[in-house]
Amino acid sequence: MARSKIALIGAGQIGGTLAHLAGLKELGDVVMFDIAEGVPQGKGLDIAESAPVDGFDAKYAGANDYSAIAGADVVIVTAGVPRKPGMSRDDLLGINLKVMEAVGNGIKQYAPDAFVICITNPLDAMVWALQKFSGLKPEKIVGMAGVLDSARFRHFLAEEFNVSVKDVTAFVLGGHGDDMVPLVRYSTVAGVPLPDLVKMGWTTQAKLDAMVERTRKGGGEIVNLLKTGSAFYAPAASAIAMAESYLKDKKRVLPCAAYLTGQYGVKDMFVGVPIVIGAKGVERIVEVEFSGDEKAMFEKSVASVQGLVDACKQINAALA
Ligand code: APR
Repeated sequence: MARSKIALIGAGQIGGTLAHLAGLKELGDVVMFDIAEGVPQGKGLDIAESAPVDGFDAKYAGANDYSAIAGADVVIVTAGVPRKPGMSRDDLLGINLKVMEAVGNGIKQYAPDAFVICITNPLDAMVWALQKFSGLKPEKIVGMAGVLDSARFRHFLAEEFNVSVKDVTAFVLGGHGDDMVPLVRYSTVAGVPLPDLVKMGWTTQAKLDAMVERTRKGGGEIVNLLKTGSAFYAPAASAIAMAESYLKDKKRVLPCAAYLTGQYGVKDMFVGVPIVIGAKGVERIVEVEFSGDEKAMFEKSVASVQGLVDACKQINAALA
């Protein structure tokens, strides 16, 4: 069977890491597209030259023309501008909306049957706009945020409890903003929910609240440390997990920004919810029950996403 083709739109920090991970995991051949001349070509060649050392087989190509993505099975989009210190994800809106228009047109022309994963921020609004610009079927396009936000929460929890990250599951839903919704009731250590662990004396409610807050601000924490860009290792690893679930039909249950048609009371928006990713793309949207507080948090987060979507419609009349 021929290898899968993975197209990466944007060959910056996340794009380069995606390309490396896709090779190390032998997910397929990689094409990197960027407007910067030489960057996708250089990164592709550099990674290809690491392949003999690590012993993986994958072809790498760099391109500045959308025709190179033709026939891609998976497209992962990181094109755009990342956050700088003091900048919110929303400040990026106007700049990255224009980028999504160009990317959407490229996908529409050359890879209309691909499974597309959007990473560009502000995530929930950008994936919404990308779906409109590309005309992709809603089940073939998702946004990467929940896997990353949950991974950050899992890391903090594993450190606090001094247990393997493998045994910590966490559930962060809603929009990828500072009012994202970490669901402590559905987050566990080996199946034991976090509120029970507080009762068992493993941690205190105050420490748990602090970890939830740190998760919400997790992206900003990295931006402040790096000063010249935003996180890229964990975002890339998260998107690769989603791509792998599609390419290998693993049917993993992952929190992703998915197109909602009434689930959770939300219509015509992409919001972070648990979904099943398999060979058909988004195969199922899992609707969990919220408590009163959780529902209020989720609704607040959805309202922020709605604000961003409305702003997109104001900027570009074609989206209204
Ligand atoms: N088409 C293709 N590529 C583009 C375009 C465009 N119209 N505009 C910019 N790019 C490219 C840049 O040339 C750069 O190589 O996108 C790449 C972005 O890379 P970085 O600046 O390194 O950003 P990165 O850290 O990879 O983050 C990308 O993901 O998490 C989000 O907020 C983050 O929106 C940002 C995106």
